[in-house]
Amino acid sequence: MNELRVVDQKEFAQRRKQLMRMMGKGALAILPAAPIKFRNRDAEYPYRQDSDFYYLTGFAEAEAVAVLAPGREHGEYILFSQERDQTIEVWTGRRAGQDGAIEHFGADDAFPIGDIDDVLPGLLEHSDRVFYTMGCDPDFDGRVLGWLNHIRQHARGGARTPGEFIALEHHLHDMRLYKSREEIKRMQRAAEVSVAAHKRAMQACRSGMHEYELEAEYLHEFRRNEMQPAYTTIVGAGKNACVLHYTANSAQMADGELVLIDAGGEYDHYAADITRTFPVNGRFSPAQKEVYEVVLAAQAAAIEQVRPGNDWNAPHAAAVRVLTAGMIELGILKGDLDELIEAQTYRRFYMHRTGHWLGMDVHDVGDYKVGEQWRQLEPGMVLTVEPGLYIPARSKGVRKRYWNIGIRIEDDVLVTKTGHTVLTEGAPKSVADIEAWMAAGKAA
Ligand code: GLY
Ligand code: MN
Ligand code: MN
Repeated sequence: MNELRVVDQKEFAQRRKQLMRMMGKGALAILPAAPIKFRNRDAEYPYRQDSDFYYLTGFAEAEAVAVLAPGREHGEYILFSQERDQTIEVWTGRRAGQDGAIEHFGADDAFPIGDIDDVLPGLLEHSDRVFYTMGCDPDFDGRVLGWLNHIRQHARGGARTPGEFIALEHHLHDMRLYKSREEIKRMQRAAEVSVAAHKRAMQACRSGMHEYELEAEYLHEFRRNEMQPAYTTIVGAGKNACVLHYTANSAQMADGELVLIDAGGEYDHYAADITRTFPVNGRFSPAQKEVYEVVLAAQAAAIEQVRPGNDWNAPHAAAVRVLTAGMIELGILKGDLDELIEAQTYRRFYMHRTGHWLGMDVHDVGDYKVGEQWRQLEPGMVLTVEPGLYIPARSKGVRKRYWNIGIRIEDDVLVTKTGHTVLTEGAPKSVADIEAWMAAGKAA
């Protein structure tokens, strides 16, 4: 096992402590593990732990609930989880059980998940504020309401329901926005393997192949490195590159087309998110190169804006300016640069924003605004920078040579004390580097 996979319990304990400090005595936080989801009949989707739950526990098993009760005499961190069961474990693998929850996962107190209906109402009754994320798991919401009603039924015996329900996500997601060294190590690993996958796909690509064959190159690289896709891989060649969330990946790729691939792997619950666009035959046509250089310059200008003190919107504003100027230069848009930006005319060909937070979730948690103001970038935040241009066939007023060109270039950028580090730097990106790398693949 890779050494990064050895769970560092100290860090999970620190996170719980930090959250409990903020909650204060008399409060209770309830975090359910991700529910098991069925694909069809009794076949399950691969299980992926809930990010908030994992962030605080490091516990990857299903059928578990973590409870934090700052100041509780019999232990502040209570973990409900599946009981050990030799017969079932033959089928589903080893469980930590209650002893394991205490010994290996730092729980102060541990109960079988089957006991939760007996134990949780008692914990709720002794708390005046409950931190809980409502609306993510309707079944679990129903159980929380059930426990509350159970207490109400005993009101005449002196039982009291908590006075306040507070959204847990505000504090927790703000913590998750600032990545620790351990988290950055995991993101770096996810980035490295995802870079290797893009390099592999570039060299494997041949005219006449299908999009799904390139998708397979990513899966190969992820799985051999103990990873899986962090989101559904997009492989869109030719006109499919202009469909933003194209995931069919079923078309044959023709000589002369560009292929856009948005693919990133997840390592130990941390995601990478990379897009590269390259020519199926290994050589950019003049028209493809013209548009590509505009997107590349926009990305460079946006990345340049990633530094502490700049606000969240600075990279987007920089990308929009370069993309719009480039489109004027190529005759794709006509008019005055500032007026076109003001009127958002660029949105005809650039209809998404330039990035998002990245972390345990590909579109990670964390607020983008504080009040009405864009948030300031600070060290430890990680964001994507992903400008693009998408010019479908028959775009009015656009020369035919640019039709069916869809280009996005996406990297993962860590804000540092002095500026930024691009975590995904290694994936070829300039026209010259892509062509040289693809040519080397053909020669091999
Ligand atoms: N892969 C999803 C995104 O780029 O936002
Ligand atoms: Mn992205
Ligand atoms: Mn992406």
